[in-house]
Amino acid sequence: MSEFVTVARVGAIAEGQGGTFQVGERLVAVFNRGGEYFAIDDLCPHMGASLGAGYMDAEGVVTCPWHAWHFSVCDGTWCDNPRIKIDAFETRVVGDEIQVRTTPTKAE
Ligand code: FES
Repeated sequence: MSEFVTVARVGAIAEGQGGTFQVGERLVAVFNRGGEYFAIDDLCPHMGASLGAGYMDAEGVVTCPWHAWHFSVCDGTWCDNPRIKIDAFETRVVGDEIQVRTTPTKAE
């Protein structure tokens, strides 16, 4: 079980936006959805684009910036084929720090 790691301060990720952060050996895409933070694997499984640079809609669906595959920011589900998921990670806010733990939350 990995520990929570601070990735940014509250306010560093604008509402509706995302960013890419190094957490241990992984790159994690963290999004601010209505003031709540969600984290998924940054690496698009199609051809490796950075999902942190993707667009998130009001439903929490992240569109890959390269070829528009869609992923749920909540649990990493690939919206075009929900049987497949990318890793999603636990987040929390402690004081003014956004923290991520890279133990995947998905259960398969
Ligand atoms: S690299 Fe993400 S859809 Fe192609």
